[in-house]
This record gives sequence, structure tokens and C-alpha cells, in this order.
Amino acid sequence: MKYDKIYYTASAEYLKARTGGFEPELGMILGTGLGGLAAQIEDPVEVLYRDIPNFLVSTAPDHAGKFIFGTLCGKKIMCMSGRFHFYEGYDYQDLVAPVRVMKLMGVKKLIVTNAAGAVNESYRPGDLMMIKDHIKMTGASPLCGPNDEAFGPRFFDMTDAYSKEMRSVARECAKRHEIKVHEGVYFFFTGPQFETPAEVRAARILGGDAVGMSTVTEVLTAAHCGIPVLGFSMISNMGAGILDQPLSGEEVTEIAQKAGPMFAEYLADVIRSL
Ligand code: HPA
Repeated sequence: MKYDKIYYTASAEYLKARTGGFEPELGMILGTGLGGLAAQIEDPVEVLYRDIPNFLVSTAPDHAGKFIFGTLCGKKIMCMSGRFHFYEGYDYQDLVAPVRVMKLMGVKKLIVTNAAGAVNESYRPGDLMMIKDHIKMTGASPLCGPNDEAFGPRFFDMTDAYSKEMRSVARECAKRHEIKVHEGVYFFFTGPQFETPAEVRAARILGGDAVGMSTVTEVLTAAHCGIPVLGFSMISNMGAGILDQPLSGEEVTEIAQKAGPMFAEYLADVIRSL
């Protein structure tokens, strides 16, 4: 059946065969800004998403996404280059695929990063925020539908989805690197439109520090199957309406890519320390 363990086992078996039985311990999903780390993966083996049975098909076929397997900072990792978002037109249920396949490959911990807009007015573009929790008030859960107990229980806990233990390690690394890393709440909107100024104000009143359109489906899937997560948002812009200027996708990408490399060394240290 689609979405159950047997369905995704076909994807994982294919990846095991392609990588010679590689056993990743750490999963990584790198968003805009912090994607450069993928280039540092040693002895990389790349597998295109489109070649993997029962996996998601990218909506931008000329920009093929891929898994990269290899070693980074002494850890055996499985990294996604290119992720899947609800706004691309996938059903929420389909968005469980990446993390379920990671689980079946043996991944024990997950790092996720994204670009996000600041809701907290003390943040600035170029800042880094460690995600301590999220709010998702729009859209269905990727865990809707028949539950496969082989992955996790029907009703599952989100109290420590953004692992306290991993956050504590990341906090120590930030001290060592003498860099400021905020800790805040990621407020999910489906996109693809940026938020309205009123939505950004609402997110602030409700306790959000940053807004974004990714990450949350992956974290929910990880929490369901018991993978602890460490998440970071690269603040690429002030949320809509905070400044008297419109937002553009190009600007968001540009700022996130400019600021990203500053944090690559920090993130490398975090990976080493996990
Ligand atoms: N809103 C939603 N997603 C984003 C933003 C934003 O302001 N910036 C980067 N990703």
C-alpha cells in the first residue's frame, strides 16, 4: 500500500544497492543559504530522486533533485539536495517520503535548514535562528490517512521534536564560534505567496519568530518515526509589512546565499559534535 513500510522499503533497497550498503547515521535537508555544505561531502555517491522507485517526482524536471551519500565532518550522512514543498502541488501525505526513506536507511538524527522571513523585529537579514518549536495552523498533516504502526503510533508527541539535546550541542558550538544564534519559533505558511503584513502580525502575536514554507512536513514525519531533529532558519528578509518594501523571491535567495557561507563552519562544527 502507498505510504506504508513496504512501499518505501522499495526506495530504500534501491538506495542501499546503489550505495553499496551505505549506512548513514545523519540525515540532512539543506535549504537555501546553507546548501553549500553539500559540496564538502567526501567520497560522494549521488542518486537522482527520479531514479528511485516509489519516490517523489520533482516538479522541476530540468532541475533534478538528488540524495548525496558520503562522509562529512566524520559523520556518515545522507543529504538531500533539493527538497519537496506543499506549494509545488504534492499531497501532504506524499511529503512523508524523504524522511521515511531516511528512517529505513538507518538515519538516527536529522538536520534541517531553510530560509525564512523574520517575524521577530529584533532579527535582521543574515541572522541565523535555531528552531526550538514550530506552529502550523494551515494545511493538513502529512501523517493524515491510515497509520503504519511500523513507523510510529497514530497519535504522536511533538514536545521534543526539535531535540533539546541537539539544541544544547548547537548552543555550545555557537559559544565556541562566538556567533549569535537566535532560538525561535518557526511559523509555517503553505505559500507559494509570501505572507500578507496582517499574517506576519498574526504570527507574531501567536508566538512566531520567523515565517517559512518548508521544513514542518519533514519534522512531523521525523517526530512520528522517532528521529530527533535539529533545525535552523537563515533569516533572509524581514517578514512582509515590517519594512515599507515588497518582497521578492530573488532577493530572498540572494541574501540567504550571501549569508550562508558565514555559518558553514559553525554548522560543520555542529555536525562534528553531534
Ligand atoms: N515568508 C515565507 N517564506 C520565506 C520568507 C518569508 O518571508 N523568506 C524566505 N522564505
